Amino acid sequence: MNVLLLGSGGREHTMAWSIAQSDKLNQLYIAPGNPGTAELGTNVDLLLSDFDAILKFIEKHDISLTVVGPEKPLVNGITDFLEKHGHSVFGPSKYAAQLEGSKKFANEFMKENRIPTADFETYTRREFDKALGVIKSKGEYPVVLKADGLAGGKGVFICETEQEVEKRLNELKKSDKFEDAAQTLVVEEFMEGQEASVFVISDGQTAKILHYAQDHKRIGDGDTGLNTGGMGAYAPTPVIGSRMLQRVEKEIILPTISAMLLDEHPYKGILYCGLMITIDGPKVVEFNCRLGDPECQAILPAIESDFLDLMYAASNGELDSRDVAIDKLYRCCVVLASDGYPLEYEKGKEISGINDVSDDTLVFHAGTKEEDGHIYTDGGRVMSVVGAADTLGKAIKKTYDEVDKISFENKYYRTDIGAKGLRYKDQ
Ligand code: AMP
Ligand code: GLY
Repeated sequence: MNVLLLGSGGREHTMAWSIAQSDKLNQLYIAPGNPGTAELGTNVDLLLSDFDAILKFIEKHDISLTVVGPEKPLVNGITDFLEKHGHSVFGPSKYAAQLEGSKKFANEFMKENRIPTADFETYTRREFDKALGVIKSKGEYPVVLKADGLAGGKGVFICETEQEVEKRLNELKKSDKFEDAAQTLVVEEFMEGQEASVFVISDGQTAKILHYAQDHKRIGDGDTGLNTGGMGAYAPTPVIGSRMLQRVEKEIILPTISAMLLDEHPYKGILYCGLMITIDGPKVVEFNCRLGDPECQAILPAIESDFLDLMYAASNGELDSRDVAIDKLYRCCVVLASDGYPLEYEKGKEISGINDVSDDTLVFHAGTKEEDGHIYTDGGRVMSVVGAADTLGKAIKKTYDEVDKISFENKYYRTDIGAKGLRYKDQ
């Protein structure tokens, strides 16, 4: 089959790498892609916001499946649009994607369906003073403030004091950076525990766990500094043992998939369950409607089943007849970034050493560009390196040995990816 993959990050390079291994693949197109995806298929210059142009491309190139990498086109309804024109899409509908696109929707959905999450209240933009009053009278800190809509990871504030709440509320009120996103404010109880992410594939009726991982969202070692898109991940994570995974399936995944089906909005695609493993059990921090970046880089290489076939089956209601097979290795993914990210950073630095990386280690591009056969930095998160081994400790060591082989000016990376997992025994 011919496949169109939408996106251009490390996640999409990894998805392209998985898709390219399928016997079922004829042509792979990636829009807009990156220099890494260009080695696996044909990059095409399409805007992800231009649904008409995407439709035209699909019809012209006889595409059997469109795979959507990032959340924005899903939240904006690309699946509904393409399905209305008779095309298969891997990714949830606009309604179902609200599980990521609206924190208010997601929290109310979970409350209604008794899916464990933080206690919360919602306020409109006009009720910010009321919100402040309620937070002050409760006096429980930290407290979590969230802008309702997609805010590219910049809409969540964990406030330690009353002064900080006031400051953040004022910023949110004035900021047009959040535009619609700040129309509604969600105030959440702070949940204590270890974070982990479970990735599920679903055709609307049947849901199967793909794998589970731990992300590292902060820029600095020891989880310090600003939040980022993710500086590294490892999988599987011992934060979730087999009994905990069963609880996640029973208490979170199955009720979510069946409630969406009952609501007549079957959830098709990837359900990314961002969890806090608390002393009371697993609780949802957030749902996302797509694979995580950089978790994807650590989980897709573990899938021994044909991932393209799984996505095709999920898009066409046939997942029941497929198995998800996962290998037994640990993988560590370290993101190489441009120093300064997530704030300002320089671009256009030549990258060397990619070809020196061992054959058993994967390198996925994200913010890179190619000119005359040379590769240059072109973004905050530049590329990721993924090493594998039979223990987590060995996987971490292997990955960092390979990270050292890649050079560019202002290269920055965290040196402690996976270290949290080593605190558990037998790693
Ligand atoms: P989100 O975009 O909702 O995933 O939030 C970003 C990050 O903020 C999460 O990965 C958590 O580390 C943290 N966070 C969000 N909500 C909570 C909460 N209710 N309790 C504790 N930490 C939270
Ligand atoms: N790595 C976090 C995310 O993809 O949302």
